[in-house]
Amino acid sequence: MQFTVAIDGPAAAGKGTIARAVAQRFGFAHLDTGLLYRAVGRRVLDGTPADIAAATLKHRDITREDLRTPEVSDAASQVAALPEVRSALVLFQQEFAKRDGGAVLDGRDIGTVICPEAEVKLFVTASAEVRAHRRWLELTKAGHDVEEAQVLEDVKERDERDSTRKDAPLRPADDATLLDTSDLPVEEATDAAIQSVARILGEKT
Ligand code: CDP
Repeated sequence: MQFTVAIDGPAAAGKGTIARAVAQRFGFAHLDTGLLYRAVGRRVLDGTPADIAAATLKHRDITREDLRTPEVSDAASQVAALPEVRSALVLFQQEFAKRDGGAVLDGRDIGTVICPEAEVKLFVTASAEVRAHRRWLELTKAGHDVEEAQVLEDVKERDERDSTRKDAPLRPADDATLLDTSDLPVEEATDAAIQSVARILGEKT
């Protein structure tokens, strides 16, 4: 069975948490596509040109433990604006989406560019302040010494760059279901996503 769930949204909106829960509930495979751009950004910081980094990306690059730092978030968003980087990563994502048994992909352009035919499309948002607070908590827990105000500034800058780039800008697909998690506990947001998937899956099977 092929069944694709596309989850897009701005920085730190909770896409990953929702995507993992949906994948686990339905036994689907999950791909955090942000990791691909983070891994390219990391390699660029280490001195590899962006186009080469994207064209030669290996599994070990996306399993590195140092991909969630603010420095890598910023580098990821810079390389993500380069068409040659995006095009080098398209096929891998599309093949992942079509794997037998169902797939959940989260990112910025899954419902619009990578999988416009996805059975379920969700666009997860929250206010910039709520998202920055969540990201600040994550970073602090992971041992990073960061100011919340700085995280907010970084999140806003990244959203602006991601939304205004020419190639595959961050935006909801016309047929995406919007899920605003500003005032929604994570369990409720996850339940809402699972219900959207269950409804469509039920119609299909
Ligand atoms: O976890 P967070 O939402 O902060 O970021 P991420 O999903 O790991 O993505 C990091 C960066 O990669 C984003 O700011 C985008 O610039 C880029 N990205 C993208 O352009 N397209 C995707 N499908 C996924 C990520």
